[in-house]
Formats: sequence, structure tokens, C-alpha cells
Amino acid sequence: MRLTLSVIKADVGSVGGHTKPSSRMMATVEGEVAKAICNGLLIDGFICHTGDDIAIIMTHTRGEGSSEVHQLAWKTFLAATSVAKTSGLYGAGQDLLADAPSGNIRGAGPGVAELSFDHSLSGARPAESFMVFAADKCGPGAYNLPLYLAFADPMYCAGLMLPPMIKGFRFHVIDMDNTAGDSLLELDAPDDSYHIAALLRDNERFGIDRIISRTHGEVVVAVSAQRLHAIAGKYTGKDDPVAIVRNQGIFPAPEEIISPFAKAHFVGGDARGSHVMPLMPVPLNTPVTGMYCLPIVSCVGFSIDREGRFAESYTDFFDNPAWDEVRRRAQRKAIEMRSQGWSGAAMLPYSELEYGGFRDTVSGLLKRFRLRDDRKPEAAE
Ligand code: 13P
Ligand code: 13P
Ligand code: MG
Ligand code: MG
Ligand code: MG
Repeated sequence: MRLTLSVIKADVGSVGGHTKPSSRMMATVEGEVAKAICNGLLIDGFICHTGDDIAIIMTHTRGEGSSEVHQLAWKTFLAATSVAKTSGLYGAGQDLLADAPSGNIRGAGPGVAELSFDHSLSGARPAESFMVFAADKCGPGAYNLPLYLAFADPMYCAGLMLPPMIKGFRFHVIDMDNTAGDSLLELDAPDDSYHIAALLRDNERFGIDRIISRTHGEVVVAVSAQRLHAIAGKYTGKDDPVAIVRNQGIFPAPEEIISPFAKAHFVGGDARGSHVMPLMPVPLNTPVTGMYCLPIVSCVGFSIDREGRFAESYTDFFDNPAWDEVRRRAQRKAIEMRSQGWSGAAMLPYSELEYGGFRDTVSGLLKRFRLRDDRKPEAAE
């Protein structure tokens, strides 16, 4: 069967400030997804949250960009929004940027990552397993570095030296500043890996859209690399990306994929979406309550049975004492960075500040600047 994995994530309201969705919102989303499984639209579904962003992870056979699946997610987020509104929660419906998008909701606000494959549990994939990364309080290129390291650097993924992977992977890089549409460039690792790095170093402009095995032609990674401000015409929020990553066998193993997250690398995001702070790996359903509002990322893993179901059990990758060490380091890096407050590299450049108000403050001041009159006085006649 041709199986599609769809992950659609949105921030539609949260309790006590931008911390987490309410239990009633989560129950509403679970109810809608359960109905869609019952009526055959979906094969399976799983709901979790990262900070105040709710992710719906789905399997189905309707293909990528299916209007039925996308509309289900949109209506589900609308239902959660109305729960949030009734309860007076913060930011109700904040990521639903379009009024009533018809069909595919890519570009309407929620993060969408999808990939499809022939699911036969034979040949190159006698078992199918994958993981989903979901981030909150950060920009769209948050996975640029960790995915580059896992799929293009044998220092992180020794598996790249094995015959099924030694030809490398093809990166589809997206230019998120192009508002005309999805503007993509395909570059192969390892041959073009310096070119790939030259683009991916700019987390705010370039992102990984997908990664494909050069040996097997199979899609291994799909990321929701889009900028909300490019969509809405103004900066509406950080983009909090989701990513699907298939693993094992012809692809890197889970530990090779998650080990780059041990860096807790600096990304744009954090408080008011306007700082540069470390990305902290956290367990599923972690609220944002730390002292700074750190960028956070969760990672859940599934296996898929012959019928395309996965919800029987899951693995919460960052819920392990090994990651406590990384969390402590992330917190230490955060304290160091924040000790310089608003100065220089600690905050994002002017064009990337999520809160437009910062720019309004500065543009008000810019109007008051005057050229110094340092011309020599005219010689008296
Ligand atoms: P197992 O022996 O648990 O299958 O693990 C093997 C392995 O290759 C880990 O990367
Ligand atoms: P959210 O994207 O979760 O709403 O967070 C935005 C923000 O401004 C954090 O300070
Ligand atoms: Mg929020
Ligand atoms: Mg959020
Ligand atoms: Mg956000």
C-alpha cells in the first residue's frame, strides 16, 4: 500500500500564558482524530504537545496534500480554538492565519510535514519505523544543523559509511524568503556538502524541505520549513517546525539522528520570538515554564504494522536521564547568553524580530535622527 505520514501542528491557545494547551483542548483534538479513524479517513493518529503547540501525527492512504486530511486537521484546530476561547486562554487560534482555506492548508499557518512510501514490510524496509520532532518557541531552520550532521557527517552518523548509505543523501533546500511560492534547490551530500552548509547556516532564510536516499530513492525526511511571516505578509510568530524522520536499516539509526541535538545549538526564538537561545530537548507534553521560555524540541518514535497502524505504543526519545545532562548544559548556555541581555548576538537582527513592536519602537526613533551640520561656516564676503 502507498502509505502517507502527515504531521500537522498548530498553536491555538494556552493556559496561564504561552505554556501548554489545556486538557480540554487536548481531549477535543483526540476526539476529532478518533472519529476520523472510526470513519476510515485515517488509519491511525496520535496527539501530543510541545509547549503550547499541538501536533497531530497521522497515517492514511490519501496522499500528501490531501484536502480531506488537511481539512480534518483545520477543523480540529478550530474546535480546539473554540474551547480555548470559551476558557479565556491566551492566543486562541493564533496559528490559524487564513479565514477558511479550502483543501490543502499548507501556507495557512499550521506546520505541515508529509511523506509517502510503498509500505509492504519487505525489500529494503522489512520493518518501518520513524520519529517526529516537534519544536516550540523557535524558527523554521531549527533542524538545519542536526539534520545536516545526521545525514551528511560520519562524525555523527557512522552509518553513512555502510553500503546502503555510502552514496549519501539528496537535500531539497527551500528558500523561505521567496513569497512567490516554494523555491527549492536539490543538492547531494557528500559531493555538495559545502554548498549545503553554505545555505543551511542561515536558519532564518534556508531550510531543509526533504531528504532522499540516493541509493534507494526513498524519502527519509520531511520538514515543515515555512516562514509564517512570508505567509501572512507580516511577522506573526516564530514558525516552530515539525519534522518526520524515518530510521534504521537503509537510513540512520535513532541514536545517529538524535545525537546532534546533544549540542543544544543556538537558534532564533525564545521570549517574544526575538532572542538567540539554545534548543533544549524535552519529553513529550512538556509545558514552557522555564526561566527564559527556551526553544524546546520533543521527539516521539513509532513502528508501523502491516495495516499502517502505530498507536499501540510509542517511544519518547528525550525522556531519558541521558538528556538531563544536555538540558542542564542548555540551561547553562542560556544563562550565559542572557547575561548580555539585549546586546548584539543575544537578540535576533532587526529583520527577524518576531514582535513587530520592537521595529515600531526603532522606526519611531529613526524619524528623529538628524544629520550633524559639520559644514564649514561660509567665509564672510
Ligand atoms: P540491537 O542489538 O539492540 O538491535 O542494537 C543494535 C544497533 O545497531 C544499535 O545501533
Ligand atoms: P508561541 O509561538 O508559542 O506562541 O510563543 C511565542 C512567543 O512570543 C514566546 O515568547
Ligand atoms: Mg503560543
Ligand atoms: Mg507555541
Ligand atoms: Mg509559535
